[in-house]
Amino acid sequence: MRLDVVTIFPEYLEPLNVSLVGKARARGQLDVRVHDLRQWTHDRHNTVDDTPYGGGPGMVMKPDPWGEALDAVIASGTAADPDARPVLVVPTPSGVPFTQRLAVELSERPWLVFAPARYEGIDRRVIEEYGERLDVYEVSIGDYVLAGGEAAVLVITEAVARLLPGVLGNAESHQDDSFAPGAMADLLEGPVYTKPPQWRGRGIPEVLVSGHHGRIARWRRDEAFRRTSRNRPDLIERCDPAALDKHDRALLGELGWRELPDGRFGRPGELVEE
Ligand SMILES: C[S@@+](CC[C@H](N)C(=O)[O-])C[C@H]1O[C@@H](n2cnc3c(N)ncnc32)[C@H](O)[C@@H]1O
Repeated sequence: MRLDVVTIFPEYLEPLNVSLVGKARARGQLDVRVHDLRQWTHDRHNTVDDTPYGGGPGMVMKPDPWGEALDAVIASGTAADPDARPVLVVPTPSGVPFTQRLAVELSERPWLVFAPARYEGIDRRVIEEYGERLDVYEVSIGDYVLAGGEAAVLVITEAVARLLPGVLGNAESHQDDSFAPGAMADLLEGPVYTKPPQWRGRGIPEVLVSGHHGRIARWRRDEAFRRTSRNRPDLIERCDPAALDKHDRALLGELGWRELPDGRFGRPGELVEE
């Protein structure tokens, strides 16, 4: 997969040389190219921002450098393959929430171009212009406001890169993760343990050393439901009824959830302790 990042702080992307993403780059599984937006400015001060139309506080990123930058990045890819079309990913708190589903979707695309902004964001016309020829995803990594989109690029890149074939040592390990498509789609992973079997007087759940795979899988699923019920009740509410077995339904009942006529589960009237 190829990733391009256009930014006014190229050094902010240094962590892409470290750990899982760094190794994927070293192995040639990820081709990451970081570009300084200011190289596409033409004035003495390398200006990338200006005052907002309509007034108000803050500055807005000018369309001209972004247009030149994105044209150049896209041209560098189409020179090698005239049919190549990147997906443009624009981090913004006003975008669609970044989820594991979206990470999977992006991991299936061969080329992503990130446009992290600073100030109050990028002149809207840039998004409109590239939206006519590329798939553009405006993506938020959470309901809070960062000073710039570079941290969002790091988050999205790491979530996407670990899904690429061969990047994780054990290809199955992300299938049990919280939010993983399939059985875990709307569930949080439960607690995990490793050796020693006793630590500061605390043992581990016996089932985990029973050697009984069926019981271990059931225990893990139960724990996933307990944790999700406590920390993310909104996920229980949207759980696909077809994905729930008899045992799941009974457990949700024990946790205080009410089965609705459509098979979904409704918010409990009062908080239920684990
Ligand atoms: C100070 S923010 C701009 C916030 C904008 N005025 C608003 O209220 O929506 C500057 C940049 O940081 C990035 N950013 C901030 N919060 C983000 C979030 N939750 N998710 C993704 N990117 C974010 C975006 O690139 C954004 O354009």
